[in-house]
Amino acid sequence: MLPFTARHLLALAAPVAMLAACSGGDAADPAAEGTAAAPAAAAGEAPPVLKEREENFEAIGKAFKAIRGQLDADAPDFALIAASATDINTRAAAIPNHFPAGTSTADGFKTEALPAIWEKPEEFKAAAQKLVDESAKLASLAPGGDKAAVAAQAMAMGGACKGCHDKFRQDDEK
Ligand code: HEC
Repeated sequence: MLPFTARHLLALAAPVAMLAACSGGDAADPAAEGTAAAPAAAAGEAPPVLKEREENFEAIGKAFKAIRGQLDADAPDFALIAASATDINTRAAAIPNHFPAGTSTADGFKTEALPAIWEKPEEFKAAAQKLVDESAKLASLAPGGDKAAVAAQAMAMGGACKGCHDKFRQDDEK
């Protein structure tokens, strides 16, 4: 009796273990496929440069807003406009460094950067350079205090933002 029972148990041991593993697996699978698979790749390993470029654009946006705010005022603070333009100038020069290969939506990242950035890198660089140039002009013009001229140059600089966004940034802001 004993030998039979032992053998019987041994024979059962493997299939039972397999069943346990399988049912565990079966139970976990639907959840794993629904939640873990895709986001693990996308959310887990966003390179720091993605955050950097977002922060850089946010700061550019704030600086531009500050300039427009001053130009809406009766007595604009031209020193502040010049400082904001200089800030934009520095940040514009950094833009091309913030788009290394592997940081697009095609790589699974949530970003408004369009594939055109990597398809036409020279054009993208030129668009960034346009902002470098226009912001430099604004920075040198602002201390003169000619409101109309400063406002016109701020508009020209805004055109550099729009020129790049139209081609290289996903338009989903409303
Ligand atoms: C050379 C191209 C280029 C220029 C020039 C440019 N931008 Fe952008 N901007 C982008 C791209 C591309 C994104 C999307 C980045 C991403 O999602 O990774 C962006 C995103 C932004 C954002 C959103 C940041 C966030 O929170 O994600 C703001 C705000 C912004 N830009 C403002 C400006 C302003 C203001 C100017 C001009 C003073 C400007 N940009 C000039 C390409 C440009």
